[in-house]
Amino acid sequence: MSSGNLLYAQSGGVTAVINATAGAIIEAARKRRQVGTVLAARNGILGALREELYDLKGEDLRQIRALAHTPGGAFGSCRWKLPDIAKDRAPYERLIEVLRAHDIRWFLYNGGGDSADTALKLSRIGAELDYPLVCVAVPKTIDNDLPVTDCSPGFGSAARYTAVSVLEASLDVASMAETSTKVFVYEAMGRHAGWLAASAGLAARRPGDAPHVILLPEVPFDQARFLDRVKATVEKIGWCTVVVSEGVRDADGRFLAEAGKRDAFGHAQLGGAAPTVARLVTDKLGYKHHWAVPDYLQRSARHIASGTDLAHAQAVGKAAVEYALAGQNAVMPAIKRQSAAPYRWEIRPAPLERIANQEKMLPKSFISKDGFGITAAARRYLAPLIQGEAKTPWRDGLPVVAELKLALAARKLPPWQGDGGA
Ligand code: F6P
Repeated sequence: MSSGNLLYAQSGGVTAVINATAGAIIEAARKRRQVGTVLAARNGILGALREELYDLKGEDLRQIRALAHTPGGAFGSCRWKLPDIAKDRAPYERLIEVLRAHDIRWFLYNGGGDSADTALKLSRIGAELDYPLVCVAVPKTIDNDLPVTDCSPGFGSAARYTAVSVLEASLDVASMAETSTKVFVYEAMGRHAGWLAASAGLAARRPGDAPHVILLPEVPFDQARFLDRVKATVEKIGWCTVVVSEGVRDADGRFLAEAGKRDAFGHAQLGGAAPTVARLVTDKLGYKHHWAVPDYLQRSARHIASGTDLAHAQAVGKAAVEYALAGQNAVMPAIKRQSAAPYRWEIRPAPLERIANQEKMLPKSFISKDGFGITAAARRYLAPLIQGEAKTPWRDGLPVVAELKLALAARKLPPWQGDGGA
C-alpha cells in the first residue's frame, strides 16, 4: 500500500549529470512500495506553483535509464526565489494546495546553494502550515561551491571538460605560435568561486605545461603582474595559455565582465572575461590572441563526463530517496571523501541549514603563492573527480539521449495567479 506520492524537481543551472540523479531517484522511488506515483515538476518550483506536474508512471524504464547519459535538465529548471514566509505566505499556501491535491508527501529538490534555500523553506512548511511534507535537497552544481559536501555532482564532468579542452587547445596554440597566435585565453564558469578555473590546472602534468596563468575570483586581478607573466611566458616558450574565471574581479571588487542582467537571487550574469583579457594582451603586448568562452558547452558536455561524477550523481539520488522515505526532513545527501588515493567516498546526510545560501570558495592552500596557479593539495583534491569513464551510447555519430513522453498530470486546481504564474 502506498502512503503518498513523490515529487522531484530540478533547479538552478543544469549539469551534464543532473539527469543521472533524476534517473536514479525515479528508479529508486518506483521500487518502494510506500511511493504511489513519482511526479516531476516542470521548470523547478515554478511547476509546483503552476500545478504543472509530469506524471512519470507512463515513462519506459529504458528511457528513465537513458537519463544517465542525457545532459540538460529533462524536466526543465528555474531560477526563482521563494519569498520569506513571514512576508508573503501566498506561494507557500499555494504549494501546500498543490501538494495536497496530488497527495505529495516527499519533495526532492535537485539544485545548488540557492535551491537549497528553496528546499529549506519548503522543509519548514510542515510545521508552519500543518502539512506533513518531507523535503530533501539533492546536490548539483558545476560551480562546486556547495559547503559541507566534498564536491558537487556536475562539477567533476565540467572540470574534466575544462582540463581536456585546455590541454587540447594548448597543443593547437603551440603549433601556431611562431607565425600566428601567441596567446590563448579560455574562460571557465564558476561565478564567485574558482573551482572550475582551478581544474584547468590538471592539464599541466610537467612544470611549464599549459595553462601558464590561471586567473581566479579568489585573487584580485592585478593587470601589471598579469601582463608581466604573459610576456615572460611568451618570451620563454613562444606562447601562453591563460585560463580566466568568469568571476574574476579587480581590486575594487568589480567583475572584469558583467553581462548586465541579474537573476532572481541577485547574481550578475557573467561571461566575457576571456575577450576582455585577450584584448588587453593584444593592446598592451601586441600579441595575436584567440579566446574561447565555452559557456553552456562546459556544463552540457556529457560525452566526456567523468565516471566518478556520474557515480556521485546517481548515489546522491538514491540516498535522497532513502532519506526522504525514512522521514529525514531538511537534509541533503553530502559526499564525504574517505581517502584520496585510492579515492574512496561515501554519502552522508547533512543538515540544510548548513548549506543554504552559502558559497564554498577555493581555499588558500589550493592557490599557488604567486596567485596564478594551483598547488599540489589542489591537484590531490581535483584529480580523482575527473577520472573514470561515463560511457555514452552513440547512434549515427551522435549521442543517444532519453526520449520522455512528459505527460502532465491532470490539473485539480485553478491556475496560480501569483508571481511566477503562467
Ligand atoms: O549554475 C552555475 C552556473 O553554471 C554558473 O557557473 C554560471 O555563472 C551560471 O550558472 C549561469 O546561469 P544561467 O544559465 O542562469 O545564465
